Amino acid sequence: MNNMQKKKEILDAFAFRHATKQFDPDRKISDEDFQFILETGRLSPSSVGFEAWKFLVVQNEELRMKIREVAFGGQGQLPTASHLVLLLARKDVRYDSEYVEYIYKNIKGLSDEAFKSIPAVYKEFQENDIRILENERALIDWSSKQTYIPLANMMTAAAQIGIDSCPMEGYNKEKVTAILKKAGVLDEEVYDLSVMVAFGYRASEPKHQQARRPIDEVVEWVH
Ligand SMILES: Cc1cc2nc3c(=O)[nH]c(=O)nc-3n(C[C@H](O)[C@H](O)[C@H](O)COP(=O)(O)O)c2cc1C
Repeated sequence: MNNMQKKKEILDAFAFRHATKQFDPDRKISDEDFQFILETGRLSPSSVGFEAWKFLVVQNEELRMKIREVAFGGQGQLPTASHLVLLLARKDVRYDSEYVEYIYKNIKGLSDEAFKSIPAVYKEFQENDIRILENERALIDWSSKQTYIPLANMMTAAAQIGIDSCPMEGYNKEKVTAILKKAGVLDEEVYDLSVMVAFGYRASEPKHQQARRPIDEVVEWVH
């Protein structure tokens, strides 16, 4: 495939993707296709490579219906989606946490010796450069921002193989959190609910064309 064909294919996927409100309840995404979607999430970039997320795939009907009761933005999507993913943001991404040490030593492969200087560097970054240690919320928001990268990548990757999606923030966070806690699937010590996304196949064609501002309104060039 040449460059022009590749670009067309990618833009076609962007045109295909829309926030799907109702999925065809009889069409399920194959395991292989869903693993592919998850893999694009897993491979997503994150600030400092902290991967401040977890993807909770909720396939339990009862749990989905409970969430739906407090999710005004997911009324049609939650019961009909083939797969529902809740993106959780990690709370333990402070420079001095065990998790950060784990990432450096076990994932990035740093020796104990090489790791020694790391916490001081990221203390400065988190405390003074991006100021996310001022309160707990700021740090969680930083993690939450990171989760929107796999969110977008998974939706685009899905669209490229003809799979629909809908990102969702339309829910009462406190109530969904309580439901997840009660079901024993959210460790509140470590995770905070960030955003949801439903995947499946559209029940019907979208009613509206994608509405977007023109490029010269969105982009400003500085020469
Ligand atoms: C972070 C985020 C949260 C969203 N939450 C909801 C939601 O709760 N329910 C919904 O139906 N659509 C939701 N949307 C979809 C947007 O309304 C939609 O993407 C936007 O209107 C543009 O339309 P399009 O995606 O069809 O091009 C959300 C989109 C994003 C990016």
